[in-house]
Amino acid sequence: MLQGTREIPLSELIGALSYALDLAEGEPPGHAKRSCLIGMRVADELGFDLEARADLFYALLLKDAGCSANSARMAALFGADDQQAKRTSKIVDWSQPFDAFVWSVRTVAPGRSLRARLERLLAIRDEGEVTRSLMQARCDRGAEIALMLGFSPRAAAAIRGLDEHWDGRGQPRGLRGEEIPVEARVLCLAQTVEIFHRRRGRQATYRMARKRRGQWFDPALVEVLESFRGDTDFWASLRDADVSAVAPPDQVLLVDEPRLDQIAEAFAKIIDAKSPWTHRHSARAGEIATAIAERLGSEQSVVRDLHRAARLHDVGKLAISNRILDKPGRLNQTELAAVRQHPLVTERILERVPGFSGISPLASAHHERLDGSGYPHGLSSEELTLPMRVLAVADVFEALTAERPYRAARSPAQALEIMRDEVPERLDGDAFAALETLITEREPGSLQGARG
Ligand SMILES: [Fe+2]
Ligand SMILES: [Fe+2]
Repeated sequence: MLQGTREIPLSELIGALSYALDLAEGEPPGHAKRSCLIGMRVADELGFDLEARADLFYALLLKDAGCSANSARMAALFGADDQQAKRTSKIVDWSQPFDAFVWSVRTVAPGRSLRARLERLLAIRDEGEVTRSLMQARCDRGAEIALMLGFSPRAAAAIRGLDEHWDGRGQPRGLRGEEIPVEARVLCLAQTVEIFHRRRGRQATYRMARKRRGQWFDPALVEVLESFRGDTDFWASLRDADVSAVAPPDQVLLVDEPRLDQIAEAFAKIIDAKSPWTHRHSARAGEIATAIAERLGSEQSVVRDLHRAARLHDVGKLAISNRILDKPGRLNQTELAAVRQHPLVTERILERVPGFSGISPLASAHHERLDGSGYPHGLSSEELTLPMRVLAVADVFEALTAERPYRAARSPAQALEIMRDEVPERLDGDAFAALETLITEREPGSLQGARG
């Protein structure tokens, strides 16, 4: 790979990674980028200075960085797909009790008996605090991720406040009017406008904006939105949203190696937050894979790529509903098919991210097996490189030593015993031997997974 020798603008990289956040949020690809174009247009009309524009730009792209943090609880609370609940909830005007009721009836516990659904609805109503804390988890986590990525406190504050409403009836803190940072007010408007515009067109979007003026939205921002209603070129440009034109020009940050590591680490946290059962999976798979590769004498650049690939290998899981990921029982055929898609999604996401496209084949091959029985491509042993083999071993070991909804965590010794049956037909003998040596050399328990 030529990482470090190529100049990669940070804005391009974060823009490409925002597709992963769209998936987790249940939105079609490009939602964050389109929201970014809308929000930046508003900022330009408002005359934001360069620094404020840069903060807003990254806040818009990363606004859903915390969305995986409440997926599991969303799915459990609504008894429904977390993505579907998230997607449709932004359409509803929560200040209208009837609208909120209709949404709940449509979303909650689909396919269950009327009685079961009513019970679930009542439980949600009684748990107003729960929904507040769900939103809090999401907003705080998103802000934390932005800071971890090296963005400013102002960008983080914008993300933390994106679901607050002008009238004080938003979430999670119930801030009112100018208590809400202006960047957060722009985020709230931009993301809602994007969803309405895509689904219902320009007329309906402006009707919605006017209706929610002074309720959800800052009236001054709705005013600004009115000013470019007739700009047909702008609205058409959302179709294949290209954010490079609105990227902060004097702040074109080029990505170096440590920054790529930092981004991989932050995204590993987003991925691991998706399910309580995998809360350290990507981070630990990264540590284990790196240790094995070093043991095998791999070159530094190979180890570095492997570390990043391990941290990002399950990014495709963001697309899977937590109803499936966290299911305590056996998965049915459809659910299994959905789960088996995730390495393909990982491949699709990473191959379009400058800086990570080179590790896409490695990251997406972690469920491939030497006898060709793996997925998604059924690669053969000749096609599986050493880093791919190492990652597969690290992934299996991490998963076995972590607790799952359907079984307890195995000890490292038990995990090795289970894996031994697959060596060398399915899992690589050298990588396995290196792992075995590492386990025996390390303090007992140091590679034991926590829950997840
Ligand atoms: Fe996986
Ligand atoms: Fe994994």
